[in-house]
Amino acid sequence: MTATGSRPAGAHDEAGAAQAVRQMFDSIAPRYDLLNHVLSASVDRLWWWQTARRFKTILANPDAQILDICCGTGHMTMALLKGRPRGASPILAADFSRGMLARGAERFEARRARGQGTPYAIALEADALHLPLRDASLDLIVTAFGFRNLANYEAGLREFNRVLKPGGQLGILDFSEPGGLIGKAYAVYFHRVLPAIGRLICGKDGPYRYLPTSVGNFPPPHEMIALMQSTGSTECAWHPYTFGIAGLYTAVRGL
Ligand SMILES: C[S@@+](CC[C@H](N)C(=O)[O-])C[C@H]1O[C@@H](n2cnc3c(N)ncnc32)[C@H](O)[C@@H]1O
Repeated sequence: MTATGSRPAGAHDEAGAAQAVRQMFDSIAPRYDLLNHVLSASVDRLWWWQTARRFKTILANPDAQILDICCGTGHMTMALLKGRPRGASPILAADFSRGMLARGAERFEARRARGQGTPYAIALEADALHLPLRDASLDLIVTAFGFRNLANYEAGLREFNRVLKPGGQLGILDFSEPGGLIGKAYAVYFHRVLPAIGRLICGKDGPYRYLPTSVGNFPPPHEMIALMQSTGSTECAWHPYTFGIAGLYTAVRGL
């Protein structure tokens, strides 16, 4: 049966899963950026950039209201900010792990200190399943490598469509499992090499065993698209990046 949401080892329900995910990210926050760049050979930068480029028209509108949810240490947000014009309204960057968000907030502050008019972001501690935002208030929601961790995917998509304006756009960047020979080679890296390197750098076993498991449990593209359609999104599509190791889901909130 397809997973309905993330279930880290030992979590029996949605509340337990959310708590385990939050604690895990708090615990790896000091090493997260280093680990990410080592494990992805910095290809993650390309994926953030490609994602931001896809939304360049909305980003160029200074009045557009934009949320980066599950922003973590803020790399996706920084890529989005590059597409914002001077004087644009700030991007909201939200996460429920204080450890991760604090690092993002430092990054945003350093950018804001560059002076008046520089596009900037505001860090917000918030749960993706219960956003403290008004209905139909956003033009764009982007989330990078966060959605897979939600305790309930359907509830997450419904919450995103609640806060998006009709016609507002959604971008979900996450890992995927490619097929064929590349998929087989990648599976060895992902299930064996990656957890070992993760353990070495981070000194912990759990988080980098959780990563391949969570990607394996995540609905494949055709199921994600069906779920997006059934929760009020239109024009749903999946854009594979780097042989389908990662990919961007795009959608528009129905009118
Ligand atoms: C793998 S990190 C990705 C961070 C960043 N977007 C990036 O691309 O590097 C996933 C982030 O999702 C956050 N997250 C997971 N579930 C969440 C939820 N329900 N609400 C808010 N943040 C959540 C975690 O705290 C973590 O910071």
